[in-house]
Amino acid sequence: QAVAEQHRPQLHFSPKEKWINDPNGLVYHKGVYHLFYQYYPNSTVWGPMHWGHATSKDLLTWQHQPVALYPDSLGYIFSGSAVVDVNNTAGFGKGAIVAIFTHHNPKGEQEKRIDFQNQSIAYSLDDGKTWSKYAGNPVLKNPGIVDFRDPKVMWFEKENKWVMTLATKDRITFYSSPDLKNWSKESEFGETLGAHGGVWECPDLFPLTLNGKQVWVLLVSINPGGPNGGSATQYFTGEFNGKTFTPFETETKWMDYGTDNYAGVTFSNTANRRILIGWMNNWQYAQAVPTKSWRGAMTIPRELYLKEVNKKIFLASKPVKEVDKLQVKSTTLSNINIKNSYNLSSKLNAKSSVFQLSLNEIAANDFSIVLSNKKGEELVIGYDKTSNQYYIDRSKSGAVDFEKGFAKKHVAPRISTNKNISLRIIVDVASVELFADDGLTVMTDVFFPAEPYSSISIRSVKGVTLNSIQYMPLKSTMK
Ligand code: FRU
Repeated sequence: QAVAEQHRPQLHFSPKEKWINDPNGLVYHKGVYHLFYQYYPNSTVWGPMHWGHATSKDLLTWQHQPVALYPDSLGYIFSGSAVVDVNNTAGFGKGAIVAIFTHHNPKGEQEKRIDFQNQSIAYSLDDGKTWSKYAGNPVLKNPGIVDFRDPKVMWFEKENKWVMTLATKDRITFYSSPDLKNWSKESEFGETLGAHGGVWECPDLFPLTLNGKQVWVLLVSINPGGPNGGSATQYFTGEFNGKTFTPFETETKWMDYGTDNYAGVTFSNTANRRILIGWMNNWQYAQAVPTKSWRGAMTIPRELYLKEVNKKIFLASKPVKEVDKLQVKSTTLSNINIKNSYNLSSKLNAKSSVFQLSLNEIAANDFSIVLSNKKGEELVIGYDKTSNQYYIDRSKSGAVDFEKGFAKKHVAPRISTNKNISLRIIVDVASVELFADDGLTVMTDVFFPAEPYSSISIRSVKGVTLNSIQYMPLKSTMK
């Protein structure tokens, strides 16, 4: 039975079995969130890609659905997006859901051609249940760029057109279309900006509001070249006029500094909410992680927003508010002075391996939260004042030797300039998501202890004062 499986997440989406990677086609339609994903139903390693499918009404309890898209004569079904064609611009039918994805032709790749990735579409007239591929595929042919993939499409209201953000090797190329079938190139962005340690993949472009003004955010995943190794997601803020993206700043920023949030994109059709899901894994070791019947999971859905710090604009994220509904019974301690070590488990009867912990108003000093089990395995999450960095150290977290770079301490800059620190962490059996300073610094890491961590303690050699600690076991959303 699934629940008893070692390392099986209880709040995070994972497939019943076999391999998954990127989230695809995230769309909200008639009260239902659709999550499609890169899926290989025959193995626990990457292979010919399908679009798997799951649905949810609350972003946390997922219903597995039949595979939506199978590979065909044009190739594997790589990553992409989905939109609701409210105005029937494509002529498939009013309210059709249209998926825009990359056809990856393995034969062309073997033959060392350069044009084996092309963009195609498929549509559903029954609210996402069944899908038909468009007979005129591909709709956007490869112009001679080996890496030409992961279309993210949105409706650009002002000009009544669709805009496609496409990863094209070492840059983003924007295209537009009146009908999702005919696409024209608008511009390129990023050849000389941002991080370039690896190929650009899975972009997303969307507006957010900051102090009443619209600001465009461009997400770009890269593999490798992440701040703590392997794959990661950078972002740019700027202006978008339907044709070109103009960044405000040139410095590289990361949406998540942990190693395990990749290829994250946001839902379409969610009005004012901007909700992101990422693949909670890293290409550096994704095919080697020690789970048995399945490999891969998604991050907790996160709501994105902007924050200004020292006149610079940053992307912040927090777990969607739906997570609050999973609260079983929280316990809070107030006004605590910690010197050396403080065992939270005994004070709060904190025994679950699925929980949220919030530490509030910590006078910034070195401290750490240590999760451990009887086998002596531990995961350390902390803050280092001298470097002004948060960190997650998983070097002794359990099984680590399936890949040589896994056992590491990961660091992230503290961006906030507030005097006091606030932290919120979500732990779910084999993952931790750290949201520091209201999500200004975020880290997501996976780990694989031999048995679940049963103890939580807080350590501070120099001493630390906390206004409050709240421990909240979270209910499993597994069926
Ligand atoms: C990112 C990625 C995408 C591609 C897909 C293939 O993780 O490499 O660029 O479409 O995975 O599964």
